[in-house]
Amino acid sequence: MSVTLRISICDPNETSRDDLKKYLIGMENIWLEADCSRYEFFGEIVEQTTPDLAIIDVDSQEKSALKLIESIHRKFPKMGIVAISSRSDGSLILSAMRAGAREYLNSPVQIEELVGALDRVASLSADGTGRSKKSGAIISVAGVSGGVGTTSVAVNIACSLAKVPDHSVALVDLDLSLGDADVFLDMIPEYTLLDVTQNISRLDLSLMRKSLTKHESGVHLLPRPIQLQDIQAIETEDFKKVIGLLRASFTHLVIDLSKSYNPLDIATLQLSDHILMLTQLDLPCLRNVVRLLSSLESFEGVNEKIKIVVNRTAPDKSQISAQKAEETIDREIFWQIPNNYRVISECRNNGIPLQTHSPKAAITVSINELARKLAGDRNEGPGSATAGNDKKIGWLKFLSK
Ligand SMILES: Nc1ncnc2c1ncn2[C@@H]1O[C@H](COP(=O)(O)OP(=O)(O)O)[C@@H](O)[C@H]1O
Ligand SMILES: [Mg+2]
Repeated sequence: MSVTLRISICDPNETSRDDLKKYLIGMENIWLEADCSRYEFFGEIVEQTTPDLAIIDVDSQEKSALKLIESIHRKFPKMGIVAISSRSDGSLILSAMRAGAREYLNSPVQIEELVGALDRVASLSADGTGRSKKSGAIISVAGVSGGVGTTSVAVNIACSLAKVPDHSVALVDLDLSLGDADVFLDMIPEYTLLDVTQNISRLDLSLMRKSLTKHESGVHLLPRPIQLQDIQAIETEDFKKVIGLLRASFTHLVIDLSKSYNPLDIATLQLSDHILMLTQLDLPCLRNVVRLLSSLESFEGVNEKIKIVVNRTAPDKSQISAQKAEETIDREIFWQIPNNYRVISECRNNGIPLQTHSPKAAITVSINELARKLAGDRNEGPGSATAGNDKKIGWLKFLSK
């Protein structure tokens, strides 16, 4: 569910105020409550509009601006206050923080820094409903083996999410060498991940949005680069900035990861709200689940976001049972998606999403339900792990199954 963050801004300088307004107006889930050019009037405006967040540029008259921050903070101690200044010296930062600012941004403001600051302040200014006011949720889909169904699930979750009227969804194909999300949606996009990472310093929110190609389902696609030799040109830091802008432009980002767990994949995992670790119920896959869970432990904050999703479950006895799989990987299975090779390969070969091709099929219903659960269930935190991490895994025990 998307929740709007109401913001009022104060900056006597018209140029920087207009720049800030332009950024904020382009963001999803942001409502610009008021913009004010005079420090002496802003206190009253804040009282009238009671925004979730007040942004104050202190450069025009530092003393008055700091006093203003202090008085707003005193009256509304829960309101998030962001101070902006071209000065980056410690004493001013300290004064602003002591006055009550939660964040301090250097001007000219960089959009990704603004997004990060808004996110941090928004998480602290929870509205008491338990709903997050943060920017777009990132759902990454990571496969534990080739052909496990990562792209099928990522594409169809994105289409499912896009069905909800107040959602705006972007799908990023991070399988840089062999990604085929564009084929699943029968699209020939104009720009790729390479274009946006290379031009990140020139992109604003509206240009970023325009660089993605919109599918009739409502999903905006950012595909992998065209040539293999272009992959090296994608820098992790630029990629992170791209993700920051996409989060500000869309309510949901679905990212189809590669199977190489390279620096871009790991950066995505760290930025994600939900990580769907896609597996099948066979021995090589389950062994990789254990390996990956163990390796990813070294990246802070990643493991608790992982949700194990089993793809292609079948009622027959040819697969390892879900219960046995849970014992083996020492985690609960979060979701199971049924096997339906006929439907999914028809979708794939014709570039049609499941909900257009077979809206009532069990596989479509399952993916819709999963998307719904993730959309309303953000940052639910740990809890998918079952107790007892010290259990020894014996692969051979499957042989006696
Ligand atoms: N739930 C499913 N039931 C049947 N076949 C599936 C299912 N999910 C994926 N597949 C098939 O598995 C193959 C690999 O799927 P794909 O999504 O391309 O995997 P990955 O992106 O992990 O390589 C495709 O042939 C696809 O049609
Ligand atoms: Mg794939």
